[in-house]
Order: sequence, then C-alpha cells, then structure tokens
Amino acid sequence: MGIVAESLKILSEEEKNNVDEPMVTVDELTPGTRKLYIESYGCQMNFADSEIVASILRNEGFSTTSNQHEAELILLNTCAIRDNAEQKVRNRLTALDPLKKKNPNVKIGVLGCMAERLKSKLLDEEKMVDMVVGPDAYRDLPNLIAEVEEGHKAVNVFLSREETYADISPIRLDSNGVTAFISIMRGCNNMCSFCVVPYTRGRERSRDAHTIVKEAADLFEKGYKEVTLLGQNVDSYNWENEDKSEKVNFAGLLDRVARVHPDLRVRFSTSHPKDITDEVLFTIKKHDNVCNYVHLPAQSGSSRILDLMNRTYDREWYVGKIDRIREILGEDCGISHDMIAGFCTETEEDHQETLSLMDYVQFDYGYMFFYSERPGTPAAKKLTDDIPEEIKKRRLNEIIARQRDHSYQRNLRETGKVHRVLIEGFSKKTEEELKGRNDQNKVVVFPKENYEKGQYVDVMITGCTTGTLIGHVYKEEADLHQS
Ligand code: SAH
Ligand code: SF4
Ligand code: F3S
Repeated sequence: MGIVAESLKILSEEEKNNVDEPMVTVDELTPGTRKLYIESYGCQMNFADSEIVASILRNEGFSTTSNQHEAELILLNTCAIRDNAEQKVRNRLTALDPLKKKNPNVKIGVLGCMAERLKSKLLDEEKMVDMVVGPDAYRDLPNLIAEVEEGHKAVNVFLSREETYADISPIRLDSNGVTAFISIMRGCNNMCSFCVVPYTRGRERSRDAHTIVKEAADLFEKGYKEVTLLGQNVDSYNWENEDKSEKVNFAGLLDRVARVHPDLRVRFSTSHPKDITDEVLFTIKKHDNVCNYVHLPAQSGSSRILDLMNRTYDREWYVGKIDRIREILGEDCGISHDMIAGFCTETEEDHQETLSLMDYVQFDYGYMFFYSERPGTPAAKKLTDDIPEEIKKRRLNEIIARQRDHSYQRNLRETGKVHRVLIEGFSKKTEEELKGRNDQNKVVVFPKENYEKGQYVDVMITGCTTGTLIGHVYKEEADLHQS
C-alpha cells in the first residue's frame, strides 16, 4: 500500500492521527547497549527496511530507543517520492541540529530513497549529516558507522542487482504484535515517467520464496495473525533457485504463504494493472485467509495521460481489470487506488475522465496526490510541468471529495452485515473500544466487552463514516431478536 507519511488517503478517525507522523523506533530494554533512534518516512517498504537496519545494528551492540535525546546514533530513513516528502526530512534535520551541537558525539545518518537520490550532495547541503546510506547498502552500516566515529563523513549509495536481505530477520518496530509486513522483492523495472523509485531503489529482484514462507511461519508462531507481502509491483514477483529447477511466481508465492496456517491472514501490495493476472485472482478466491482486497493504482482515468505517464495500459485495460476482479472475487471485493492530479498537459477533460473512472469503479478508498516533478525522471526531462499549482490542488480536492462520497457509499453497503474482524488493538478514542480490519481492509470499531487484540470476531455493522465501519460483536440470539 502506498505512502503513509505522505498520503491524502481518505482517513478514518482511527488512522488520522498517524498520518503525518513518521514511524519511530520503540524502546528496547536492553541494558548496557548503545542507543539508536530511527525515524522512518515514506512507504511500508521503507518501514520494513528500518526493521532490517535495527537487526543489523543489534549485532553491533545497538538497541532502539523512542527518545532521540538519549540516542548516540540518529537515523532518518527517508522518502523521495514527492518534493514535500524531502522537505519534511530537511526540516527534521534542521530541528536535530541543536541536539548535535549540544553533544557532538551524536551522529546523524540519512538512509533510504532521499539518500540514494542526492548521494554525497546531501553532505554538502545539510552540514549536520555524518552519513548517507542508500537502500541496498545497509549491510555496510557497521563499517560506515566506524568511519564516522573516526571523525570522517561516510557514504555508500551503491545499488545492487541481488541484495534482498533475505537472510536477515527483521526486528519488529512499532508493532502491535498482530500484523506485520514482509518484503518479497526490491526495486522496480517499470519506468513510469513521473516516478523516482527506479532511481532510488534500483533494479527489481525477487527474494527467495522459502525465506518468505519461513518468515511468515515464524511470525505466526510468535502470535502474529496477519502478514502483508510488499513490493512495488508484486505481480512481477518471479523467483527461481540457483539451478533453475524451482520457479515461483506471485500466485505461487501467495498460495504458499496462505498455506502457512488458515488463521494467518495474508494481504499484499502493490498490484500493477498491467501485470495482475487471473491466476492471482483465483488464488485469492481459493484461500479464505487471503484477503478480498486489491490495491490497484490507476494514476489517471485518461488514456492520453496514462500514455504520457508510461503506465503501459489505457483506461479500457484498467476497467477490464476491475471488471475481472469483480467477476472473480465478487462485488464486495475491496478495491483502492492511487491517483495523481495535474500531471503534465492534463486538461480539464482529462481530469473529468479521472472523475468518471472513479464513478465507474466506486473505489473503497484511495491515496491521492498532486503531481510533483522529480528531477531526473523521464517526465522531468521530456515534459513540462505546466499545470499551475492552484489548478492541481483544485483538481486534487475534487478527486478527494469524489472519493469521500464513494467511500461513504461503499461503507453504507456494509451496514446490517456481519464481518469477520481481526482485532489489532484499542480504538484511538478510548480503551472501551477495539479496532480491527475486515477482509476488505476496512477499519471496524466496536465495544470492547471481553475481547482482546489478536482475536478474530464477527462484528455486526450498524453504522459508518467515510473511513470506518461501526458495530458490535455479533451474538446470534440477541441480534436475531432485534431484527
Ligand atoms: N509501485 C506503486 C507506486 C509506488 S509510489 C505503483 O506503481 O502503483 C506510490 C504512489 O505515489 C504512486 O502510485 C503515485 O500515485 C504517487 N507518486 C509517485 N510519484 C509521484 C510524483 N512525482 N508526484 C505525485 N505523486 C507521485
Ligand atoms: Fe514507480 Fe511505476 Fe515502479 Fe510504481 S511501478 S514504483 S509508480 S516506476
Ligand atoms: Fe518508498 Fe518513498 Fe522510496 S515511497 S520506495 S520510500 S521514494
């Protein structure tokens, strides 16, 4: 699923509080160790990478802290997807500067996509930074930290064709103990003209399927009840072993992970309209524990714009995929999208086509952005960022408003129905209420009674907002009586 810190997703009250906050490390109560504070921006893949970083650094005697003031090493794992994502990191660096001035032993590292995009330039631009490390160079962190401790600046932004960190067991940060993310691949081989990811994450590579299944099984053993398989384009997952006697595509991987245990829910993100196959859809259908939910970024409803974006599908193709999802998985399958407003040359007619695509699909929710030109991308080189900001924003607001209508309508359909919910914890408002998600990835809130996180419960939906379903745990007798 898309971007956490950045998105303008239609948010439930539950999620609203989290959205502009980066993920921060938890306190590990390991005495006598050096303290590490990591803040993560951007997508779930970046968050998952921070868990790899924490694992690599644990072997170096670091344990994580949620208090930046007690850390000797501060790492920002950054995102470069839009200009404001980078701006946020620069503001954060400025805010950290006094801390470093007060205690020069504190070292600051910038990791992730912004590190990869700007490379050593970042050291010149932001003087407080000691270390710049790209997403494929985390195994080198112990050496880079040693260099920094000797008083040098350190950079490694080497991109790899093989690195998947397959053998590294992530340390779960910020975990509710119920749901976890598993990276199944890295990089991206597509060339969407607006997108910086191919430059910051490098070539696509798939992780060893056995290590993925093992990670899912280990998580289940530790009490986790849901895993989300992550990749920029999961449908192009394609792993083969060294002697090429074993080949696993995404449908095959989904099937293997689903068979870990029927009580382990499986989700995945992101699907690409050009690559999602019937085989994947039938695998979702085959397993009750693979959730009935597809995140299928559209980016635009206009075939002309999609062509300029180099998405390699047109509106008809996208609509065909939606129809196929609903044919195979039913009208109730949750479907969400990403949409970009105001891409180069976008006319009012193109924009109306985006709105009409949304009307056709009636997405459950979406992550919506206005176009932000990224230096070095094909769009930046060949096209002009010619839509004025106020028009971009007005179109984005129209897209968001339309999504709100659709989200509400889609949620309304669920009232009066019973949904199986995996409990993730207390609702944001009160410890008298629990929250979880249903099969379609909708957030459900209900009175706590005696239920606990990690349990599956059947919830009768009695009301909704644009972002949340509201109900109570279904008790056959009582509920029958009422109806
Ligand atoms: N791999 C995923 C998307 C990853 S980036 C896919 O192909 O769908 C997440 C979302 O950020 C994209 O879907 C897109 O909607 C948005 N995005 C990417 N680059 C952008 C840019 N330059 N300006 C605005 N939004 C952008
Ligand atoms: Fe970017 Fe396109 Fe790759 Fe998604 S598929 S990460 S939008 S290049
Ligand atoms: Fe993710 Fe942002 Fe990088 S969206 S892949 S952290 S540019």
